[in-house]
Amino acid sequence: MFDPEYFSIENLIKTGLPPLPASVVRVSALLSDMNVSQTAIANALSLDPILSSRILRLANSPIYALHGTVTNLASAVATVGNMAISEAMMISGISDSFGRKILRSAAGKEIWFHSLATAMAASEICRLAQMRGADEAFSCGLLHDIGKLILLRADYPFYIEIMARATDEVALAAVEREVFGFDHAELGTAAAIGWKLPAAVSHMIRFHHEPSNATAGIAMAHIINIADTLVTLKMADAEMDELLISKWALAFRIEVSQFEMIWDTISPRLDEVVQTFS
Ligand SMILES: [Fe+2]
Ligand SMILES: [Fe+2]
Repeated sequence: MFDPEYFSIENLIKTGLPPLPASVVRVSALLSDMNVSQTAIANALSLDPILSSRILRLANSPIYALHGTVTNLASAVATVGNMAISEAMMISGISDSFGRKILRSAAGKEIWFHSLATAMAASEICRLAQMRGADEAFSCGLLHDIGKLILLRADYPFYIEIMARATDEVALAAVEREVFGFDHAELGTAAAIGWKLPAAVSHMIRFHHEPSNATAGIAMAHIINIADTLVTLKMADAEMDELLISKWALAFRIEVSQFEMIWDTISPRLDEVVQTFS
């Protein structure tokens, strides 16, 4: 039986929002300091053994194509760099707080994979457009559909049924509004506020389906929307919409062909990251 009180934003945030691990908050604060030393980052990371082992694993992955094995954290930090640490930390934090049970379920895995791909695509788009904030784009991409994970965690069979009623994300948001009175973008915004994430992140989550309505962080909302659409089309094996791509290309001064290249760049990394963090 559908319980509107249980499915209210207030209740889902109060009872269904897992805390972000302390290590995420700690390392995140360190990374925001431009002058922080890699030793300080390695020291902070060493307090979180799971995150440390993931960073070591990443440093030894084919992405970095190193000669020899990286066995200590300080070398791993130097190898992967601050940007990759901050990405790894966000992935690690979200995956730990939501738990393996949800992220390894069929629907959870799909949402998680989609979020990781959107994060990587968003940060590539940022780089190609020569815009600052590739790390912010990554976090925003990773979190844009966090509302879906919260709903899945709240009632798995029920939310599966809701998801099955829609063919794409915008249609899903409409079904959610009809059933719950809010959509996953609104719920995700409340989660970002609950986690005390920067206002730019919560704003982007709110407008990721309708970036033209954003009143702040408009470029980021558009980038996430493009990354989201690009990944959705690619994962559905659908043709890239030429008209859409040329519109994006024009807006961000990126060649049309580069959108195909973005996918080719992120796909091999995606598999590696999924293996490291699952
Ligand atoms: Fe969405
Ligand atoms: Fe999405």
